[in-house]
Amino acid sequence: MADFPLPRPAADWWRTAAIYQVYVRSFADGDGDGTGDLAGVRARLPYLADLGVDALWFTPWYLSPLADGGYDVADYRTIDPAFGTLAEAEKLIAEARELGIRTLVDIVPNHVSDRHAWFRAALAAGPGSPERELFHFRPGRGEHGELPPGDWPSQFNGAGTWTRVPDGEWYLHLFTPQQPDLNWDHPAVRREHEEVLRFWFERGVAGVRIDSAALLAKDPALPDLAGRSPEPWPGETHPYIDRDELHAVYRSWRAIADEYGAIFVGEVWLPDSERFARYLRPDELHTAFNFSFLSCPWDAGRLRTSITETLAEHAPVGAPATWVLCNHDVTRTVTRYGRADTGFDFAAKAFGTPTDLELGTRRARAAALLTLALPGAVYVYQGEELGLPEADVPIGRIQDPMHFRSGGTDPGRDGCRVPLPWTAEPWNEPWLPQPADWPAYAADRQDGDPDSMLTLYRTALGLRRAAAGFGGGALEWLNAPPGVLAFTRPDGLLCVANLSGGPVALPAHTSLLLGSSALDDTGLLPQDTAVWLRT
Ligand code: GLC
Repeated sequence: MADFPLPRPAADWWRTAAIYQVYVRSFADGDGDGTGDLAGVRARLPYLADLGVDALWFTPWYLSPLADGGYDVADYRTIDPAFGTLAEAEKLIAEARELGIRTLVDIVPNHVSDRHAWFRAALAAGPGSPERELFHFRPGRGEHGELPPGDWPSQFNGAGTWTRVPDGEWYLHLFTPQQPDLNWDHPAVRREHEEVLRFWFERGVAGVRIDSAALLAKDPALPDLAGRSPEPWPGETHPYIDRDELHAVYRSWRAIADEYGAIFVGEVWLPDSERFARYLRPDELHTAFNFSFLSCPWDAGRLRTSITETLAEHAPVGAPATWVLCNHDVTRTVTRYGRADTGFDFAAKAFGTPTDLELGTRRARAAALLTLALPGAVYVYQGEELGLPEADVPIGRIQDPMHFRSGGTDPGRDGCRVPLPWTAEPWNEPWLPQPADWPAYAADRQDGDPDSMLTLYRTALGLRRAAAGFGGGALEWLNAPPGVLAFTRPDGLLCVANLSGGPVALPAHTSLLLGSSALDDTGLLPQDTAVWLRT
């Protein structure tokens, strides 16, 4: 891989990196057709460099019918023409690198699109063919095979996981019918993914985000749940979640990544911290997303527990924690923190949940400083730095399959995927409509405004990058009043976040580096405010 003109030591950049998630379709539109594209990203690279991020994670940009926003990949070696070309992706990777920014791509190993060449061949070849062995095809139950072969519920709102094809067989899909699950017991499936990894590493990609990383391996008998929970079974082997044989897959991937000095971040939603940490053993994945922190309500006690447990579960395997407040699947932070229930839960999503955006924004600002002061890597989801709220997408415009599979009760995930407002001028025919009040959030309007969310993120990311103490090293909790989180980091750095019901005094310090809101007239730290101090 080419040399990187980067500000961080090359070998362990990922341990403390700030990684920006680009949802390509909604980031920036280079050709004015209403869909974000690689030309748009290339034009905005200076903005990202200015923001102070170390790497970009691109949600899937490959050829896809977009049945699930690109998580239905038809060809890993082709960029979707709506986004650009492979040559442009290569240019983008190189241009980002010139600015000191690395690139991560998203690999979706659990399934492919039903338009993928393998699945089309499997359909054409018919029952009993070697082509069908790459997937999970089974005859149906019932006298005429008219009933699905199994009872697993979908990861998307419980609907079924089996679809029948015209010749009578059924195939398994944990997500939508357009996303047939691959058979990870098949050597060709393993080989193909190893080649795809190499394909992207050869193009200078510095890392890979692994989609649904704990779901790939299945019990070959595909046994029924028979009334048991579709969630992980603590202490027992589940038919499709977190199976032991997955670790051999990730060990082989790690060996490939090591050849290129590249890294992994796994999407691993597991409640059991010991099982979670297994994915982070030194010869497996470098990092995994921390969804317990993301889902945590705005509550000092719960956040402290989540932080403490996260650090404790990562320590034995020597892996850095990751800190995430939102992504393309969950409710945007300023909206969530302004609600009565400030936690995140897929099952609780509903239309019309009231929110106080002023309060939510104030808390999101404090949450940003809290998060960016924690030891490990941080992720920023596009638009988070603009303080975008969750958009109310009109029902007729919703595209997310989660909405349709819920029978229309779940608003789905489009509200956090609406195209970014760069200027007061909306996109030309954006694929999802931008709310009428979004000019107020436009990046050019926030630029230079000392009180804007963008300025807060730029300043915080800049300080975090400049101050080695914010990277690795220990976190020590300080005694603090109820509802207040206070901890030190190396080099005399101190973070205090006030989630209590009123203002509190600051601990002794020599200077105030940054505050999410101003101190009050008497120098107290107001409610829902965080500061970075130096002692
Ligand atoms: C992951 C992705 C999500 C996608 C799903 C199926 O959870 O983050 O967007 O729908 O996997 O690939």
